[in-house]
Amino acid sequence: MMENSFDTAHFAFVHKGTFGRGDQPKPKHFSLNETAYGFEAKVELDINNPPESHRITGTTDATTSRSFSNQWHLPFLRKLGLAYPSGIRHTIYTSATPIDDTRIRLIQWLYRNDTEADCPAALLNDWDTRVVMEDKVILESVNADAPVDIGRRDEQSMATDRPGMIMRKRLLELLRAHGETEKHGWTRIHPVQEAVPC
Ligand SMILES: [Fe+2]
Repeated sequence: MMENSFDTAHFAFVHKGTFGRGDQPKPKHFSLNETAYGFEAKVELDINNPPESHRITGTTDATTSRSFSNQWHLPFLRKLGLAYPSGIRHTIYTSATPIDDTRIRLIQWLYRNDTEADCPAALLNDWDTRVVMEDKVILESVNADAPVDIGRRDEQSMATDRPGMIMRKRLLELLRAHGETEKHGWTRIHPVQEAVPC
């Protein structure tokens, strides 16, 4: 969930039903600045602006741009700082807490600099839930046992995976700092269970 938040390559495909530009599949890259808490990530992207998102973005143009000023906080918290040319700011906090080996509890809340009359909370919740559900389909299709120690080279990565590589490195350092190690490969012993809605 955290890596997905900072993966610019998935927007055009996974989110083509909401804001993703399916006609612009070549990803841009976040500029990354590592910090004590994790990292900051910034990028500006063109996005689709279907009628359902006009009040979200504050414009009726068919496309608009969105600047991301995001943060990842070790281990499982993200801040998504979105700003639109209309002047609207849309700040989402997402906390993804593991509750067992294959499931997380996702809590998300957001702040806006407009009013209930400008864009009702129910509409905002519906829109952000649609986006989260698009991610859910992909995230539940991959192995939950992602390799944290990237030194084993269990996976191949591309340039847009760099935020995720930093996360895994920092997570491994955090585990080691607390006398823990990665327990990788358990899915070969315990087949992945069907995800159950919370
Ligand atoms: Fe996503």
